[in-house]
Amino acid sequence: MSFRWLITRKNNFRFLYFMSEETKIIEQIRENFETDFARFAHLQRGEIDGLSLDEVENLLKELGELKIKHTGKKSELAGSRKLIGRIAPEEKGAFGQFVQSVEREISTRIEEAENSLKKFIADAKIERERIDVTLPGTRTRQGHLHLLTILRQRIEEIFVSLGYSIEDDREIETDYYNFDALNIPEGHPARESQDTFYTTGGFALRSQTSTVQIRAMERRGVPLRIIAPGRVFRRDTPDPTHVPMFHQVEGLCVEKGITMAHLKGTMLEFLRRLFGKETKIRLRPSYFPFTEPSAEFDFSCFKCGGTGVFETERCRPCKGSGWIELGGSGMVHPNVLRACNVDPQEYSGFAFGLGLERMCALMYSLDDIRLMFENDVRFLEQFR
Ligand code: FA5
Repeated sequence: MSFRWLITRKNNFRFLYFMSEETKIIEQIRENFETDFARFAHLQRGEIDGLSLDEVENLLKELGELKIKHTGKKSELAGSRKLIGRIAPEEKGAFGQFVQSVEREISTRIEEAENSLKKFIADAKIERERIDVTLPGTRTRQGHLHLLTILRQRIEEIFVSLGYSIEDDREIETDYYNFDALNIPEGHPARESQDTFYTTGGFALRSQTSTVQIRAMERRGVPLRIIAPGRVFRRDTPDPTHVPMFHQVEGLCVEKGITMAHLKGTMLEFLRRLFGKETKIRLRPSYFPFTEPSAEFDFSCFKCGGTGVFETERCRPCKGSGWIELGGSGMVHPNVLRACNVDPQEYSGFAFGLGLERMCALMYSLDDIRLMFENDVRFLEQFR
């Protein structure tokens, strides 16, 4: 065993040791550690300023790797324990203490650097997550239904409570269902007022929900009580009371012994539930190819109660007349029943149809039904 003098620093005192080969190995291990640890040394003193949280987290990871390398089971230091066997018995104690002091020193330095990094991370996270409870909250904007949907659902509720079921059907129709089966043959003038959009394949976008009358009778047979809300299309130029796509609600009741009195009673009950018990209705003779007799139905104005005057002014929704036009109606034409294989001698029925946009415009005093389709949230938000 060869010896040489060595000066080591420990607790700021200088100690002199004989330096054996084994001690040299341990010293080398310490030097290796010093080299690796050099870039962390300032952290041990808590000098971390100027680094981001991500950078410090990375440093902590790298320090962890360094810790495994220098203090882990496979570290050079752990391997050096077997050197003890090579030491003379009287020097074993001193050598063991020396190894332990190096171990302690390495662990302490790593631990101190680790602690500074961890403290920095914890502080940075607290800072980042600090909540100022005095800041005003951000309110979530609640969505709501479109005014047309609200009205449609209200109408559906009323008719369902009167024993009607809701029928949905296609928007693209053949000429047969849109016109022929509704007693509007080729060349009939009624085709013109309901001119619609055609596809190249001979189909048409339905111009009225009356098409569902035919579909429903074919599908379900009679007796039958349905309402059919849905979209319809017409080649109308947009203006304050016209849009090329709008919504109608169709009603159909076919049973034995149905008369105009049932139609009138049903419309009266429906409108009373919608606008109040005092509501009155009136039927005016009209013409629709698929009903005979036919009638337009009006109801007493919900705003002025039918007087035509509201707060000493001419009432706006009814334009001072006291009545509001709502839609068309009538007794289902025998030709329509026959087209659906229903015997008009045995069954009779009434039908009605109303437009939702104009009804909405009246209810909410809107001057222009196009507003409903502009999707301006500031406008739509007013109607919930
Ligand atoms: C019909 O469409 C008939 N199918 C109604 C009917 C059903 C009569 C069953 C008899 C029996 P009319 O073409 O009048 O009827 O239209 C009904 C409603 O649709 C009108 O009162 C109106 O409110 C609405 N309407 C018609 N054209 C437009 C349009 N371009 N834009 C917005 N609403 C419209």
